[in-house]
Amino acid sequence: MACLAVNIDHVATIRQARGINEPDPVLAAGLAELAGAEGIICHLREDRRHINDRDLRLLRQTVKTKLNMEMAAEKEIIGIAIETKPDLVTLVPEKREELTTEGGLDVKARIDYYLNVTKKLQDSGIEVSFFVDPDPAQIEAAHRCGADIVEIHTGHYSEALSESEAKKRFILIAKAIEIATTLNLSISAGHGLNYVNVKRFKVLSQIKEYSIGHSIVSRAVLVGFERAVREMVQLVKDF
Ligand code: PXP
Repeated sequence: MACLAVNIDHVATIRQARGINEPDPVLAAGLAELAGAEGIICHLREDRRHINDRDLRLLRQTVKTKLNMEMAAEKEIIGIAIETKPDLVTLVPEKREELTTEGGLDVKARIDYYLNVTKKLQDSGIEVSFFVDPDPAQIEAAHRCGADIVEIHTGHYSEALSESEAKKRFILIAKAIEIATTLNLSISAGHGLNYVNVKRFKVLSQIKEYSIGHSIVSRAVLVGFERAVREMVQLVKDF
């Protein structure tokens, strides 16, 4: 049986669009847990475009399931992770100009560096996950660096423009998972998964956790919209 970890970055993105204090991603995390999520994920980016230091601090104090801090393996952020002690970190590549994480980490290009970062984090009691493309070489590299978990990047699959392309990309994911299983890595998957394209993953029982954000926040806006409007209608009606 797999579980869901909810990425709450986009709740913070909506807050940042106004530069005020709502909606609060910390409250969203609590609601996600009440609804059965078994983990909360937030990405503290170098430019703090959505989640900020205050959010991370409060999430550490309030998350009762498992706090997964997504991050670039950069000095400042590694320091914050070691100080905050999330349950796990997911190492991702990060570019200032990107709208969202665009691909998996190129672990094999910097084995010694990531080996060192992994050890530092694990020595502080933090589990380490590597966000990688469904590429055997990257999975093997993550294993060589001492990863506890690999999160397989499902973004290319999610973006496939035809059924045949989606099938091809899904097969790559399935093959990558076989390799990760052989290496005894714990397996997660995420990026771009929604209420339709996630269904295909039912056959991949080796995946322990799904990391999903955007589609949940998008759906929340729509399924919650009618109620929110009704409540405001009621409020002004009584004036
Ligand atoms: N996993 C990783 C490593 C990510 O960077 C993201 C996006 O923040 C997700 C999962 C969730 O992706 P989405 O928001 O498309 O569900």
